[in-house]
Amino acid sequence: MPPGVSLSITAPTSGSAISPGLGLALVGCGSAMPSTSLSNSDLSRRVETSDDWIRSRTGIGARRVAGADESLTVLASRAARTALDHAGWNPADVDLILLATSSPDDLFGTAPRIQAALGATGAVAFDLTAACSGFLFALITAGQYVASGAVRRALVIGADQLSRWVDWDDRRTCVLFGDGAAAVAVQACPAEESGLLGFRMRSDGSRHACLTLAQTEGREPLLDGISAQKGGFAPIQMNGQEVYKFAVREVPQILADLLEHTNTQAGQLDWLLLHQANQRILDAVAERFAMAPERVLSNLAHYGNTSAATIPLMLDEAVRDGRVRPGHLLASSGFGAGLSWGAALLRWSGPRR
Ligand code: ACO
Repeated sequence: MPPGVSLSITAPTSGSAISPGLGLALVGCGSAMPSTSLSNSDLSRRVETSDDWIRSRTGIGARRVAGADESLTVLASRAARTALDHAGWNPADVDLILLATSSPDDLFGTAPRIQAALGATGAVAFDLTAACSGFLFALITAGQYVASGAVRRALVIGADQLSRWVDWDDRRTCVLFGDGAAAVAVQACPAEESGLLGFRMRSDGSRHACLTLAQTEGREPLLDGISAQKGGFAPIQMNGQEVYKFAVREVPQILADLLEHTNTQAGQLDWLLLHQANQRILDAVAERFAMAPERVLSNLAHYGNTSAATIPLMLDEAVRDGRVRPGHLLASSGFGAGLSWGAALLRWSGPRR
């Protein structure tokens, strides 16, 4: 058993329910991407790399980079507004806004700015940080508020702007990441109609050094013998091979565990919806479950790794182009820095009008 802490719940498949008996329906989605796209060839003018190296190692062909008027708040608000419209809600209907991000505009919290931009005056809004697992962790968190009856409607947003924390001269990391925002609207429903059929969450901080966006060490002298730490963060540092090994070992394992505990066969799944980090990781997971490549959702070629945004971004794209339809069953897994990883069995409802 690897070190780490795990948390898991399996929703009832029959009428009996997690107290007090509410499920979570996924009823809307939306996304917002920066307008500037940076291709692999563009990057090869900045660092020693090539389209062939990046594509063959990762499946990534391009990534978006946020412009001056495309802050995290702007993109996340736009994504949330689209999800809200898709669900057919008014801003006043929203009780909770959860923003999963590791690159906030404000360390005190960016979600309240989104609440203000939407005019969702009745919603409580806060940030949640779990790197690339962030969206799934936030969705599961929203599920608990809904199950408890405290919240009826929530917007769960995954948004990151890692372009501001990447060392653009480090070819081992800068080719991987991109910016983006996406959101899902979720609402209370009877437990037997829940779109969150089960989940698993895990953390292992003993391996945190594999992937960091850590504070710098500088201190500022104040008075004799007293100094204060100077705030600031160093660019993303990553041991790519360790992260890769972690992902191809842990993701199939946590998904297998999830499927077993929800009495689900891989053949029953309509889609595999994984965090978009690397096509080779997606392929390895798909192979483990004998999933045909066309049932594995991937948009890495266009956007790279947008961290907390990848899962809702991919979902939104597949809902909009008609691949994911109401009633479809999706096995989803997020994984990344922390280290953190999780999985959830989801059923897409679509708007309920
Ligand atoms: N272009 C050209 N050459 C490169 C590049 C590049 N962009 N990057 C690295 N190289 C070179 C290295 O310098 C090395 O050269 P050397 O042998 O002369 O030293 C060689 O390529 C091989 O380097 P590796 O790091 O061994 O390459 P690897 O095959 O492991 O691929 C990769 C690297 C793509 C990063 C892979 O390890 C990977 O995908 N890891 C997972 C990363 C990941 O998913 N991170 C996100 C997690 S989610 C989150 O929480 C943010």
